[in-house]
Amino acid sequence: MIIEKELICEALEARKCSHSPYSHFAVGAALLCSDGQIVRGTNVENASFGGTICAERSAFLSAISMGRRDFEVIAIVGAPHGDEISELCAPCGICRQFMSEFCGSDFKIVLFDGKKPVTRTLGELLPDTFVLKGDE
Ligand code: THU
Repeated sequence: MIIEKELICEALEARKCSHSPYSHFAVGAALLCSDGQIVRGTNVENASFGGTICAERSAFLSAISMGRRDFEVIAIVGAPHGDEISELCAPCGICRQFMSEFCGSDFKIVLFDGKKPVTRTLGELLPDTFVLKGDE
């Protein structure tokens, strides 16, 4: 899929902006919205470690702040500072749950090991999702 490659390139660019002085692990994400907009995100760490925001949530927060609510695909890349991408960087549990607030089980998650993209669905990565009915 052409879009997978484009999203991986965008995620690699986003990764360059990572603020990760504690883990020294830089992550980039690129989120494709249903209207075609691609929104980047990167991990932003904090001296109070729990305040850290992952790249995936960073991308979603930007997109939501830009008025987007419908999403198709997210690409994620991660590796230690100074390293090329060589292993898949799968989203953490908090990010999986966060994504489930806005995306259905068919939402695509593209991972990259430096050689080829691997596509999963949110349903595969977060089966039996916890849901609570809200007002919106
Ligand atoms: N990280 C992400 O950005 N996304 C993930 O799904 C996994 C972890 C970040 C958080 C932290 O800044 C660093 O990677 C090491 O955990």
